[in-house]
Amino acid sequence: MKPKIVIGNWKMNKNFDEAEELITEITEKLEGYNLETEVVLCPPLVYAELVTDHANEEGAPFYAGVQNVSEYENGAYTGEVSAEMLANMDVSFCIVGHSERRKYFGETNAIVLKKMQRLLANDIVPVMCCGESLEERKANQHFSVVQKQVEETLYQLTPDQMERVMVAYEPIWAIGTGETATPEQAQEMLAFIRSVIEKKFGTEMAVNTYILYGGSCNAKNALELFSQQDVDGGLIGGASLKADDFVKIIEAGETVTKDN
Ligand code: 13P
Repeated sequence: MKPKIVIGNWKMNKNFDEAEELITEITEKLEGYNLETEVVLCPPLVYAELVTDHANEEGAPFYAGVQNVSEYENGAYTGEVSAEMLANMDVSFCIVGHSERRKYFGETNAIVLKKMQRLLANDIVPVMCCGESLEERKANQHFSVVQKQVEETLYQLTPDQMERVMVAYEPIWAIGTGETATPEQAQEMLAFIRSVIEKKFGTEMAVNTYILYGGSCNAKNALELFSQQDVDGGLIGGASLKADDFVKIIEAGETVTKDN
C-alpha cells in the first residue's frame, strides 16, 4: 500500500493571524514525527506565501497547495492568478473542479481540463475533484456521473500528464454536512474510479494514481476510511481548520501506512 496523502482544504476561512497560528500549530504538533504520510495545506490564496515559506524549510512536514488557478496563461484577466505565478511561489498542489467551484463559479469539465493543463505545464500537481449530488445518488446515477467527469477531464490527458494527477472523490451530499460516505460507499466508488482509469491508461497507472476521499472526513472516521483498499488518503475541509483534528487524521494515515 502506498503512503497516504492528507490534504487540508481551508476553503474561505481564517483571518491572517488565525492562518499563521494554524500553520504554526500544525508544524509544532508534527515535529518529531518521521512522517510517511504526505500532508498538503491549501489555504486561501492570500495566505499561500505563509504556507510556502514554512513548506520550504528543511524537514517541513507539509507541502503548499492552493484551491484554484486560472484556466488562462497570463495577461489581461483581471482578478485571476496563473499557474506560472503559483509555480513561482513554490506552490506544489492545486485543487481543481471542487463541487463548490462547479456550483458557484460555473466550473465545467472543459474548464477543469484547461486548469489541469496549465498546472501540469508548470509542474504543479492538480487534485481533480469529482462526485455526485444527493439526487444523482438517489437516482442511481452516481457511477455514470463520476465516469463522465473522469472521461471529460482525465481521459483528455496524455499518459505522461496523467502520471502527475491526483483524484479526489467528494460526494456533494457528504461535504460539510456531517454525513460521511460509509467506508463501503467510499471504497466502492474509489475502486470504480480506478477501474475507469484502468480502461484508458492501463493497470499500472490505475494502481499508482492517488485517489482520495473527501466529505465530512474527520478525526473519528479517518482510520476506517483510510483502511479501505482503494482509499489513498483524504481531502479534508472543516476538520483541517483545527490543528488537533487535522493531526489526528494524519495520524490515522500513518497508522494505516505503517500497518501495511
Ligand atoms: P468537509 O470535510 O468540511 O465536509 O469538506 C470536504 C471538502 O469539500 C474538502 O474539499
